[in-house]
Amino acid sequence: MAYRIKEIMFTEEQIQEKVLELAKQLTEDYKGKSPIFVGILKGSFVFMADLIKNVDNHELRVDFMRASSYGNKTKSDGQVNIKLDMEFDPKGEDILIIEDIIDSGYTLKCLHEYLLNKGAKSVKIVTLLNKSERRVVDIKVDYVGFEIPDKFIIGYGLDFNEHLRNLPYIGVLDETCLGEEE
Ligand code: IMP
Ligand code: MG
Repeated sequence: MAYRIKEIMFTEEQIQEKVLELAKQLTEDYKGKSPIFVGILKGSFVFMADLIKNVDNHELRVDFMRASSYGNKTKSDGQVNIKLDMEFDPKGEDILIIEDIIDSGYTLKCLHEYLLNKGAKSVKIVTLLNKSERRVVDIKVDYVGFEIPDKFIIGYGLDFNEHLRNLPYIGVLDETCLGEEE
């Protein structure tokens, strides 16, 4: 399948610049703490890798969770399943959830509540991309890379039907591609 990329929303350079900015802020905010950075698979893994390399904190630990609210579609139906839980016990820990993109907010709301219920000391959220105009549920996002319009995007970890995660930039997929695969 050859996908058509309609436009490049953020180049590799623009992304790296933003990642450095976020990492600097996180270095500041987690100074003297021993946080666990929890990447939400699969979409966040590219962002997370770039981010953590630039956070100056020797106590930082990483972990992962996997949630799904999408299946094969491009819209969330509000049903969130935790498919993989984190390995560390979140009780008493400072947790930073790392997301690629927040859309409806269902995924993050669910994970945020789940970690607080498990006794986390603090749960903050960093997302590279925020589609706030599509928000359905209210959540506080602590760190945002870019605010973006309501377009379906791919690359830098983000997929369309599991493809295109490997693009080094973030692009907009030609709408005629959407719906071609089920
Ligand atoms: P939410 O629960 O609706 O906020 O969904 C968040 C998840 O939906 C993200 O972690 C992505 O996996 C996926 N998602 C939302 N918008 C896009 C997009 O434009 N491209 C690719 N995946 C997306
Ligand atoms: Mg995702």
